[in-house]
Amino acid sequence: MNKQELLAKLWEQYTAITPSAEKIHSLLGKNDQTISNDHIAIRTYNDARVNISVLEKPFVAAGYEAMGEYFFEAKKLYAKHYQHTIDKNAPKIFISELLLEKCSENLQVIVKEILDDCDQTVFENPELIIKGRVWETPSYAIYSILREESEYAGWMYVYGFRANHFTVNVNELTDFNTLESLNDYLEENGWNLNASGGKIKGTPEQLLEQSSTLGDVQEIEFLEGKYNIPTCYYEFALRYPDSSGELYQGFIAASADKIFESTDLKLQVVE
Ligand code: NI
Repeated sequence: MNKQELLAKLWEQYTAITPSAEKIHSLLGKNDQTISNDHIAIRTYNDARVNISVLEKPFVAAGYEAMGEYFFEAKKLYAKHYQHTIDKNAPKIFISELLLEKCSENLQVIVKEILDDCDQTVFENPELIIKGRVWETPSYAIYSILREESEYAGWMYVYGFRANHFTVNVNELTDFNTLESLNDYLEENGWNLNASGGKIKGTPEQLLEQSSTLGDVQEIEFLEGKYNIPTCYYEFALRYPDSSGELYQGFIAASADKIFESTDLKLQVVE
């Protein structure tokens, strides 16, 4: 897949379970305002069959290169972000992985079994990243166990390989100069924003401010029956210039002195 195909597939798969993103995309685009993507976030487990080194392949093949790495201690995540080498307007790709060895023994066993039960050839498929859930119908009991320890692990078990969120590049919006004004506009139009830890995560000093919608909810078929489960959210990012005068392209835990603050509950994981 070339870059366009890959990004289009990810968007198609994402909006299929996140209809709010498509509606907000249309709302923002109605006055011919161009909407560009800041980044696409992808999740995985750090099992060697499906870790970042596996999932980065189609992006590297499409011209992306790794630029930054991040540790999110409290959430037990490691992440890398990728930028396109030629197309500076291409969205950044943010891939995180759950550090299984830092999780409970029980969670490790469950995730290993989930992956062991798959046809192992699927992990070699160059299109793994758009395959969604490659294991059998999930069990609500297992989902609940995973989710109790790690929301991330539970989400991954239900949805698998796909974009977790897309992010509007607010700097490129012509109708809004601040993230606050965009947030107000979205709320006036009936959208609920994630207010946990404040509607705006990050500060101008950190060179990145982000907000997001509350995730959509979808009825998912589990072995035990149907349950309503959160799907994905839509994110909005406003970037500030760094000391070189260029817009900062990293993520919050990036600035070296901030890395260890990621365990600080006041400083949310901003991916
Ligand atoms: Ni993000």
